[in-house]
Amino acid sequence: MCGIIGYVGKQRAVNILLEGLKRVEYRGYDSSGIAVLEKGQLAVVKKTGRVEALAKIAAPRKFRATTGIGHTRWATHGGVTDANAHPHLSSDGKFALIHNGVIENYVGMKRFLIEKGFTFQSETDTEALVNLIAYHFQKEPANGDRSRFLESVRKALLHVEGTYGIAVLCTDFPSEIVAARKGSPLILGVGDGEHIVASDVSALISRTQNVVYLNDGEVVHITEKGFSLSTIQDQEEVAPKFDRVSWKIEDAELGAFAHFMEKEIFEQPVALENTMRGRFSDDGSTAKFGGLNLTAGDLRQIDRLVFCACGTAWHSCLVAEQLIERYARIPVEVEYASEFRYRNAPLDKNTLVFVVTQSGETLDTLEALREAKRKGYKVMAVVNVVGSTIAREADGGIYQHAGPEVGVASTKAFTSQLIVGAMLALYLGRLRDMSYTDGVEYVKALKHIPELIKQALAQAPHIKAIAKRYAHHRDFLFLGRQSMFPIALEGALKLKEISYIHAEGYPAAEMKHGPIALISPECPTVFFAPAGEMYPKLLSSIQEIKARNGKVIVITTTGSEIPDGLADERIDLPACHDAVLPLVATIPVQLLSYYIAAELGRDVDKPRNLAKSVTVE
Ligand code: F6R
Repeated sequence: MCGIIGYVGKQRAVNILLEGLKRVEYRGYDSSGIAVLEKGQLAVVKKTGRVEALAKIAAPRKFRATTGIGHTRWATHGGVTDANAHPHLSSDGKFALIHNGVIENYVGMKRFLIEKGFTFQSETDTEALVNLIAYHFQKEPANGDRSRFLESVRKALLHVEGTYGIAVLCTDFPSEIVAARKGSPLILGVGDGEHIVASDVSALISRTQNVVYLNDGEVVHITEKGFSLSTIQDQEEVAPKFDRVSWKIEDAELGAFAHFMEKEIFEQPVALENTMRGRFSDDGSTAKFGGLNLTAGDLRQIDRLVFCACGTAWHSCLVAEQLIERYARIPVEVEYASEFRYRNAPLDKNTLVFVVTQSGETLDTLEALREAKRKGYKVMAVVNVVGSTIAREADGGIYQHAGPEVGVASTKAFTSQLIVGAMLALYLGRLRDMSYTDGVEYVKALKHIPELIKQALAQAPHIKAIAKRYAHHRDFLFLGRQSMFPIALEGALKLKEISYIHAEGYPAAEMKHGPIALISPECPTVFFAPAGEMYPKLLSSIQEIKARNGKVIVITTTGSEIPDGLADERIDLPACHDAVLPLVATIPVQLLSYYIAAELGRDVDKPRNLAKSVTVE
């Protein structure tokens, strides 16, 4: 939540800040703002609405400054107003600050500062911090010491309870930025004669691929000459660890697509190929994962797995649960990370914990990981964003390699998580009872996924036509059994988050225990009815809907027979192995939600109230 960027270099800062903000806008898009040091003074431009609105008023000011900071906001404290937009200035006008996170003790801080004569213009928690920095600056000896700026920020941060990724400007140090993090991501890009700090690689990737990921509790001081990294608490110098970002700016460009969500749906054959690349054994009977840091012997000792995640990633864990229990016969529990972190779940010594997250920054998931580690458990992470906090804090894990996901509604990251889950089931299964022959068949099925996804995507025009016919409905049910139940949940989530249509996912047989009351011609049902042993029972449930005049969009397998009058609409899936069915079945519901939202003219990539990476509680 909230995107931040800071620039120190030789170019005009405003252009770089605005371009970077556009790229991190998916992190929050209520309002945005920039501050630059222009002729020794802080100039601030901020505006509610999108970065585009900010650019319209900032560009004509033709700022020449080569140092500046920028922010795009997802409101936490204080409504969406120009005054609450970042950057915030200290009341003496010396400091400007941008902040991603929440300062929990800001009320007491603000009271203290008001007593000391500081004044406030906004309702935000952030303004308390910028004034606290100014307060410490006033107390620091003014002996021309270059560390005075850094020390004031550091001292103020020692009083903060909560989370932050911040970047600060000071009028007395015109070509410098101090930036720090605790609980919110911060990355330093080291370019040619320039440095950029940002909450997200995508904000700086057009300038440099050389990055240093800051750890929690670290502060970076950027000057014209370079940068220094140290700990906030003990002022200990930290040797920077340089990384190289493997993707390029073109990977995060829209190209010929109308929305990132559409692009990312259609990218799935390639993204999933990338998730699987190099991860099959030479004999073609199992999977292999370099990053798990556990031996086959360690894994054989595991008698229980706990998966923690949020939202769409949580749905992927429900599928993994079914596949691992079925193919590896290991009991699995799936927890909402936000609940797990507080409920003090008993884990035993042979339990292995997995956290699953696209961004690697979701605060609830991060805290679930920390809680499990605190109790002494090994925690593995399935993560898409390389170098993210969760990727670095986990004991081991599996990168998804699905490429940057920009659309707020997760699509390719979800199916890539499904692949990882399916591969884990195979790997763990082969360490136990699964035979060589079954393993070979399973691997073949996984390798066929990109082709199956292409076949499912080929139905896009048909699904678009259905979407047009159904877009005016205000309620939907999504029903499925077994591995189709999590996909029903995911379909309902996709639809509601981008189209604002109310939708609920249920196990199909649960319908008669309550949701059936919703059935009417006004509430269509998306019903997963793939061929298989459950098929007759699924048809019976559809009969129950039709008997109550409900409309049914049936997602089934090519060639399966549906009695006349049961399906108002039919979407076919190619026949496939059970382990890959959830992946293939996801495509129609992604397309259906996308086309309905597009038909309704919704802002598909930036749906209201949402943000891509939820770094607050
Ligand atoms: C929905 C969606 C969210 C995320 C959730 C977890 O489309 O994207 O539900 O899945 O916020 O995010 P990550 O995977 O980054 O931890």
